[in-house]
Amino acid sequence: MKVTVVGAGAVGASCAEYIAIKDFADEIVLIDIKEGFAEGKAMDLMQTASLNGFDSTIVGTTNDYTKTAGSDVAVITSGIPRKPGMTREELIGINAGIVKDVAEKLIAASPNVIIIVVSNPMDTMAYLAHKATGLPKNRIIGMGGALDSARFKYRLAEALECAQSDISAMVIGGHSDTGMVPLIDKAVRNSVPVTEFLSEEKQAEVVEATKVGGATLTKLLGTSAWYAPGAAVSELVRAIALDSQKMFPCSALLEGEYGLSDISIGVPCIIGKNGIEKIVEIELSDAEKEKLTASAEGVSKVNDLL
Ligand code: LAC
Repeated sequence: MKVTVVGAGAVGASCAEYIAIKDFADEIVLIDIKEGFAEGKAMDLMQTASLNGFDSTIVGTTNDYTKTAGSDVAVITSGIPRKPGMTREELIGINAGIVKDVAEKLIAASPNVIIIVVSNPMDTMAYLAHKATGLPKNRIIGMGGALDSARFKYRLAEALECAQSDISAMVIGGHSDTGMVPLIDKAVRNSVPVTEFLSEEKQAEVVEATKVGGATLTKLLGTSAWYAPGAAVSELVRAIALDSQKMFPCSALLEGEYGLSDISIGVPCIIGKNGIEKIVEIELSDAEKEKLTASAEGVSKVNDLL
């Protein structure tokens, strides 16, 4: 498998690093517009191969898309990240132009590529990628839910004072502070609903901390996070590489699923060699449905800004 990561900033470099460490890709191409930057990151990462025990080759390039030719998967992380106090939505003006341009160049070099969109506001950028490229909808995946669900599991494990590996939980809806819908009533600790262990007050705290998970880190770091976003992307790419048919909440173009159309938003998806193999329509409670509908209204408003 050949994977391109566009943008060699913190998120892009973490994607490349985790993909390399998991050792399922033959070649990882890191591409950036800043002269020499991706080459430097790629060389630094390649010098960890004997230490970290991987055989993937990482190549860096300054804006030369011919090097990305024949990619099976491409991850778009380019654009500006948010600063403390900014919402993901405020990045739309700058990032929309970048994402459209990058998506077109990727497809020109790799006509069969599956694109994973990470740039924010992610759901709107994924929607834009669909509109701008007209790719079949299984080949554009918005990465948000996999990350938000990891943050949800972290908060649940913290509240339950247990290992994160005991927890199974999902966040659907938009990848925004107000749009995320952590499905706490469906979250389990080793098959037991977490609601059996946590007071309603504690549940509300976990849900709130999950929704502002990215903002909390942006405040601490002065820019947006990279380890968990990179790791979440690497898991999606691995599911494609291994055709593992794993379920992740991803931002997918909906055509009537969950009563929503002409929108890309986080819903459970089966990920395999064709990208989004299937959108899974799970039974939602009335309260969950209401939250998802409100979240979709928020995402649509941002889409309108395009
Ligand atoms: C975050 C960015 C990647 O949530 O949206 O950290």
